[in-house]
Amino acid sequence: MKILVVGGTGTVGSEVVRQLKNRGEQVFVLTRSPEHASKLPQGVTGIVGDLLDPTKLGAFAGMEAVFLLNPVSTTESFEGLLGVNGARDAGAKRIVYLSVHHADRAPHLPHFGGKLGIEAAVMQSGMEYTIVRPNNFYQNDIWFKEALLNYGVYPQPIGSAGLSRVDVRDIGEVAVAALTTNAHDKKVYNLVGPEVVTGESTAADWSRALGKPIKYAGDDLEAWEAQNRAYLPASMLYDFKHMYAFFQKDGLKATPADVTQLTSVLGHAPRSFAAYAKEMAAAWKS
Ligand SMILES: NC(=O)c1ccc[n+]([C@@H]2O[C@H](COP(=O)([O-])OP(=O)(O)OC[C@H]3O[C@@H](n4cnc5c(N)ncnc54)[C@H](OP(=O)(O)O)[C@@H]3O)[C@@H](O)[C@H]2O)c1
Repeated sequence: MKILVVGGTGTVGSEVVRQLKNRGEQVFVLTRSPEHASKLPQGVTGIVGDLLDPTKLGAFAGMEAVFLLNPVSTTESFEGLLGVNGARDAGAKRIVYLSVHHADRAPHLPHFGGKLGIEAAVMQSGMEYTIVRPNNFYQNDIWFKEALLNYGVYPQPIGSAGLSRVDVRDIGEVAVAALTTNAHDKKVYNLVGPEVVTGESTAADWSRALGKPIKYAGDDLEAWEAQNRAYLPASMLYDFKHMYAFFQKDGLKATPADVTQLTSVLGHAPRSFAAYAKEMAAAWKS
């Protein structure tokens, strides 16, 4: 089957590409960058285009299914709607859209609220669809490698109300199942890990995995903002600071029913954070 992966050069999309390729599907990736296109895995075709440019939607032509995600930016809604329209107008039969867990509980966050409109467009597009709503990714912690290894600190201010963080490989598995069968049509899945984690429990898991003390940096969002001002654009700093405030107050937790449903879709229990930390610690050591 011809499947287009939007975001196929990024964290989640590259996992979707890898798993689709392993299944022998015909995989295409939309990218803005000819250089990224030239570095795709063998047998995967890059198509240069841009969801910010309505004159560059040719990548959708002839595709039977589309995986769509849009990175956090001030133009996320526009890009998402162009992605949905591009797939529908080209005659794709199926779309799988990556949203975010509990988007409806925090619509004031630009990258949560913005996804609700895209979800609505997906559901009303006339295509078969699956919406996947992942929690915070375990793989975000790759950004904190230096803080963990050199300073013994876990800096993501996720608080103590609790998150059900998820492994990107599980997201990939669900997306691939939804793209390649009709068993998940019209479903909205919360993609979560098997247990609720906090800032302190995450630091403790890293501590055990790395075999050295790791301290949670704490919930001070003013300090977090000051530390990240040099690295993030103002819009993203604003969005993430408010997201962490929401996490600290309300958490982002799965229900037992979410975990049961995901286990059934995956055919195995969702991967645990402790196992992920152990695996990464071993990779970093070698
Ligand atoms: N991180 C988390 O914990 C988390 C949790 C839940 C949901 N999410 C959601 O996950 C999404 C981000 O996924 P990710 O981390 O896998 O993204 P990512 O690694 O930042 O990759 C972004 C991808 O989008 C492509 N892209 C960017 N702008 C584009 C455009 N205008 N037209 C076409 N392609 C474009 C990029 O391709 P090129 O650069 O090659 O053009 C790249 O492949 C966001 O919507 C976020 O809200 C994240």
